[in-house]
Amino acid sequence: MPAQPEIGEILVQSDDLRQRIRALATEINRDYEGKSVLLVGVLKGAFFFLADLMRQLEVECEVDFMAVSSYGSSTESSGVVRILKDLDTPIQDRHVLVVEDIVDSGLTLSYLMKNLGARQPASLEVCSLLTKPSRFKVDPKLRYVGFEIPDQFVVGYGLDVDQRLRNLPYVAALKQ
Ligand code: PRP
Repeated sequence: MPAQPEIGEILVQSDDLRQRIRALATEINRDYEGKSVLLVGVLKGAFFFLADLMRQLEVECEVDFMAVSSYGSSTESSGVVRILKDLDTPIQDRHVLVVEDIVDSGLTLSYLMKNLGARQPASLEVCSLLTKPSRFKVDPKLRYVGFEIPDQFVVGYGLDVDQRLRNLPYVAALKQ
């Protein structure tokens, strides 16, 4: 891949992503044994993680997507969330696992959990590849976490800066 000057330190290498995702899938396979799970991917950032995680699942699973947009600056969410694309199917009595790429302030997820929780799923849990615990403004109640990272703007493996750099196969800090 050509060197891109804005890409800083690599925080999570491809091999570590692969290994950790395999371990998360093992936990999910164990926890949902005998159940059918509906994975809800939050677009756009989660699509790499969701695809790689789902490939490792052995439990019965389906996938659906939501797209949300948070009012605020391009780098900070405000907690006021607009649903751009809702789920295609009702989730009442379903085991729902929300799959996120990153939980930063936790505000987007907090809105999503309230919204999805009101639809009376049988269970509602979250799996996030990355978290920035030092930035949490609300307790995001995450069942599965891939990596805790420091408070740096990160790109790659689905995460973007102005829609670019999602294609990097690793997670890197952006040079500010
Ligand atoms: C990211 C991420 C979460 C949200 C986390 O999405 O996927 O949905 O921000 O931020 P918060 O915890 O501070 O609310 P983003 O708005 O970057 O959209 P994208 O996934 O389409 O890039």
